[in-house]
Amino acid sequence: MFHPLEQLRDEALREIESARDEQALEAARVRYLGRSGSVSSWGEQMKTLAKEEKPTVGKLLNEVRTAVTAAIEARTRQFQSQKESASLGKIDISLPGATGPTGYSGYSGYSTSLTGYSGYLPLERGSLHPLTQMLERSIEIFRRMGFALADGPDIEDEWHCFDALNTPPEHPARNEQDTFYLPDGRVLRTHTSTVQIRTMQSAPPPIRVIAPGAAYRRDEVDATHSAQFHQIEGLYVDENVSLADLKGTLEFFMRELFGADTAVQFRPHYFPFTEPSLEVYVKSKALKKGEQWIEVAGSGIVHPAVFEAVNKARGDKAYDPEKWTGFAFGLGMDRLAMILFDIPDIRLFAQNDLRFLRQFA
Ligand code: DAH
Repeated sequence: MFHPLEQLRDEALREIESARDEQALEAARVRYLGRSGSVSSWGEQMKTLAKEEKPTVGKLLNEVRTAVTAAIEARTRQFQSQKESASLGKIDISLPGATGPTGYSGYSGYSTSLTGYSGYLPLERGSLHPLTQMLERSIEIFRRMGFALADGPDIEDEWHCFDALNTPPEHPARNEQDTFYLPDGRVLRTHTSTVQIRTMQSAPPPIRVIAPGAAYRRDEVDATHSAQFHQIEGLYVDENVSLADLKGTLEFFMRELFGADTAVQFRPHYFPFTEPSLEVYVKSKALKKGEQWIEVAGSGIVHPAVFEAVNKARGDKAYDPEKWTGFAFGLGMDRLAMILFDIPDIRLFAQNDLRFLRQFA
């Protein structure tokens, strides 16, 4: 048999459920849970009950009170979220952002405090510079091959930039017409090969690193030359490293970057710090200039004189040229990005022209 309290509970729950607004819900709350509400008056009645009835009815009363309270809370939350979605519904998210004082809706790179304007400027989504994109893609490919990242300073001493790399004082690269010298005799590094030396100074073989970074030359600036450009240096030193490893590594890299049908060619060349030395060329149908060979890197087998210079600086024989061999390469990142994105002029990278940069967003 139904206890009258259970009947009361069902009635209350129905009423709460069907309450149309917060006012109706509040009326229901007062009717059942208010000081003189029906649930509360049952509390009063408890006193008049027989002793043996009290525990059962008391327990039931508690359950009813809990159920009704919970139902009211749940319904209150429903009303709140209905209100929230109703007010959100009034926002038209397809409207353009508010513009500045003159209706200027273009570049919003200046913060409002700088322009003195305290209203809203449209927030535009930024994007990565094409060179950064190129760098990130390249690093990701080398990481998959187990290369770790290495680093070195842009301002270098001549020893790291030239002497340790087997480049004698009379070498034309050390000319003041080619290299930026600081008053104290240091230089802006002319290549990232400096990091090869720094890496070997700080750790014994085996070594497998890449070092992305900027390099500087006193070139006449034109469509393909810039005073600052970017390279990824690579160095792999282990036992039995051969030219085949170098070719395999760079071929894999180029095909990952430019597509499976990319052809890679190695041409004999001269660098003081490698013997033999090779220049690396690519050709790919996927590229705009696909039908011609494009030079993208210098590379070679690390010259024993480089190992000896490192040993001397370390004060040990860690890089024993009889035991260890290595390959190294320097990839021109600006050149690679120009090929991949079909960019005709290296100066575009540094001009900060949004019409250019937005094409790579
Ligand atoms: N440092 C050379 C340059 O800037 C490129 C290079 C050639 C790097 C051969 C190397 C290498 O590591 O083995 O022109």
